[in-house]
Amino acid sequence: MSRHLHKVVFPVAGLGTRFLPATKVVAKEMLPVLDRPLIQYAVDEAVEAGADTLVFVTNRYKHAIADYFDAAYELEQKLAEAGKTDLLEIVRSVLPAHVRCVFVTQPEARGLGHAVMCAAPVIGDEPFGVILPDDLIRTPHAGALKQMAELAAVRGCGVVAVEEVPRAQTHKYGIVDAEPISERAARLRYVVEKPRPEEAPSNLAIVGRYVLPGRVFELLRTTAPGSGGEIQLTDAIEALLHEREVLAYRFEGTRFDCGTKAGLVRATLALAREDPELAPLVGAAASG
Ligand code: G1P
Repeated sequence: MSRHLHKVVFPVAGLGTRFLPATKVVAKEMLPVLDRPLIQYAVDEAVEAGADTLVFVTNRYKHAIADYFDAAYELEQKLAEAGKTDLLEIVRSVLPAHVRCVFVTQPEARGLGHAVMCAAPVIGDEPFGVILPDDLIRTPHAGALKQMAELAAVRGCGVVAVEEVPRAQTHKYGIVDAEPISERAARLRYVVEKPRPEEAPSNLAIVGRYVLPGRVFELLRTTAPGSGGEIQLTDAIEALLHEREVLAYRFEGTRFDCGTKAGLVRATLALAREDPELAPLVGAAASG
């Protein structure tokens, strides 16, 4: 597992029901935080971590993500003719030239593990990243996936991002039991998907970043439906850690759960605070 991280999977087949009615038409991942859709933050983080192949696991109703990363010739031509080079640059910088997008469909919504498995033919047997775009992570230095990819390369192992959550919320996450090996890293002993608080081994939750070996696809193939009757990535990771080292990693940064309205608002306020023009508008509202 010491190879460079080239491929990152984005499971984006969800229906986004929490954001209805907007998500009747707009893919959840296209909801903006300020002027950029959620998926852009995720893609930028993947590219920063070294990815040159982005694999979107989508469903047949979601064309917007493919359209978004496609070249917009007419728009680009108009902006060029009008001499609007700054806007042209914004449109073109959506995806660097060396990066390619691959779209695979998940025919049925059968869980995160199943979604990731749909990317198997594109990934093959090499380490890959997974980013859940709902989890927007702002970091002061290197992006979360880059931090994890570096650790994965050094240790030659899989890495999952974790953070502490209130005990009452363990039923919303994969929860880990892990033995610390450094300030930020711990060796996984056990992971369980969405345990009730009284059954959770800790309050350390998996959040939406993973660096995994290709081996996980074989384990997913034999993973039975678990929590919610779905094929869970967490269950395949539990099988993986019986074979080899997998680390939990407390990334440096702040996560916003943009799968909820509160999280999306918090992310918007936090990013507005970083913008000199918008900061005065949100100064009071953003505190706390
Ligand atoms: C998924 C994973 C879960 C993880 C979470 C992070 O759950 O199954 O283990 O903790 O993402 O956001 P979901 O949010 O899709 O229910």
